[in-house]
Amino acid sequence: MATAPVVPEISVAPSRYEIPQAFSLVIFGASGDLTRRKLFPALYALAHDKLLPERFAVIGFARREMGHEAFRAEMRAAVDEFSRLRPVQTEIWDRLAGGIYYVQAAFEDPAGYEALGKQLAELEARYGTCGNRIYYLATPPASYPTVVAQLGAAKLVSEPWPELSSPDWPCWSRVIVEKPFGRDLATAAALNVEIHKVFHETQVYRIDHYLGKETVQNILTFRFGNSIFEPLWNRRYVDHVQVLVAEDLGVEGRGGYYDTAGAVRDMMQNHMLQLLSLIAMEPPATFDAEAVRDEKVKVLRAIRPIDVARVAELAVRGQYVRGTARGKRLPAYADEPRVAEDTTTETYAATRLEVDNWRWAGVPFYLRTGKALPKQVTEVTIQYRRPPLRLFEHAPHPGHKPGDEIEPNRLTLRIQPDEGISLRVGLKPPGPRISLVPARLGFAYRDTFGVDPAEAYERLLLDCMLGDSTLFIRRDEVETAWGLVTPLLQAWESAGRDGLAYYPAGSWGPTEADRFIQSAGRAWVNP
Ligand code: BG6
Repeated sequence: MATAPVVPEISVAPSRYEIPQAFSLVIFGASGDLTRRKLFPALYALAHDKLLPERFAVIGFARREMGHEAFRAEMRAAVDEFSRLRPVQTEIWDRLAGGIYYVQAAFEDPAGYEALGKQLAELEARYGTCGNRIYYLATPPASYPTVVAQLGAAKLVSEPWPELSSPDWPCWSRVIVEKPFGRDLATAAALNVEIHKVFHETQVYRIDHYLGKETVQNILTFRFGNSIFEPLWNRRYVDHVQVLVAEDLGVEGRGGYYDTAGAVRDMMQNHMLQLLSLIAMEPPATFDAEAVRDEKVKVLRAIRPIDVARVAELAVRGQYVRGTARGKRLPAYADEPRVAEDTTTETYAATRLEVDNWRWAGVPFYLRTGKALPKQVTEVTIQYRRPPLRLFEHAPHPGHKPGDEIEPNRLTLRIQPDEGISLRVGLKPPGPRISLVPARLGFAYRDTFGVDPAEAYERLLLDCMLGDSTLFIRRDEVETAWGLVTPLLQAWESAGRDGLAYYPAGSWGPTEADRFIQSAGRAWVNP
């Protein structure tokens, strides 16, 4: 009897989680917003889902005067406010809180690291956490090099591989670095040099929280866990790709940071190029961290560099002025607190990138992001070519006039909210004539799985605890991504106000951006 051919399992991604080894987590910048809003709620969720080891301690490290108890109480309040699993179960919290400690010191003070070392040694003895450590840099970015250098000077970091380390310290140390990782290619490269003086690349976990989103990981399973989409995933069928990250809020009190960053640094260099690389990458030979990241870097390297002299043709930048977004009145960006009056920072950016490789040559990738747009939505749209012959008329339907072209197929990967995937197809409406109307085939995350996706930080913290860096940004990746956007930043910086377009808060961005895409015979897909 003939047997079905066996599918080779080259390296199957683990489908179940192990529990991490005992370890201590040190959070630098423990009194900051990230710690309250994201890190402790994520730790609580991991404890709730029984994914933390039995023996585990967290040390908050920050400048503010506070004792262990006060820190625990603050973090409990944060979890009460921000956890997705409310009400917080006291029993679970109490177990977690029993292992929470606080060290008060300035980041540049060597005595603080001495105190940290003592605290770690004491906890390691008490909890038997061996000396496994994760250092989380949740500080302002200017402090990253200081904290890393101090950790090195205080000898708080082990050798990169347990098997190479001294027999009295056969444990691992890892560092998680938050974004922004540098502010252009030169600063990112310099930061890498500083980090590498103390940590080996295998110990460095650069966060891009988009990679922790369930629906972002779904891009890979959708593409490579099915056989019917990949054949259609190339220049032969795809007309163009759009990556949209729209936010309906303004800068929400973060004007001080945002005015030194702007949309390209804040969203495009990291989150959006990551989405692009997952959409465009080749299937990895195995599912391990290096193989996956090799493929992502290859995509970034294949993107045609932006010529500073041609930035006006390849990108549009905008800034919002007063308006109403989702019923809320927003001031002009320039009037937001801690934003310079004469600011030229872009709150909106759109660009067209070409991926010059065999699969994608000639298929433009449009990236578009903005604050104060009409909706909060992140999605990737793959627009297919039109059928080669027009055999059917379209039936009357909203937004379409007689004589208009038939709408092409569109595959939409909705990253957030209403997570899901849908495919727009043309179908015959009821009635005596054969004609077409667009219809949607769809998968909705919530309907299928009956739950909301977990928070990105839960997955990323757990992966780091397990030593899996697949969803973290490698050194070459971060530098290549900065290399791509740096010409945009330079051109805009030297142009000042020239070419900066304005849009009312609550609109889909400046009309210049519509003209930009229309000049290529295409249109933005506004959800
Ligand atoms: C952050 C940016 O990295 O991502 C913010 O600094 C932005 O400006 C945020 O609002 C968006 O993240 P999310 O997960 O809400 O889409």
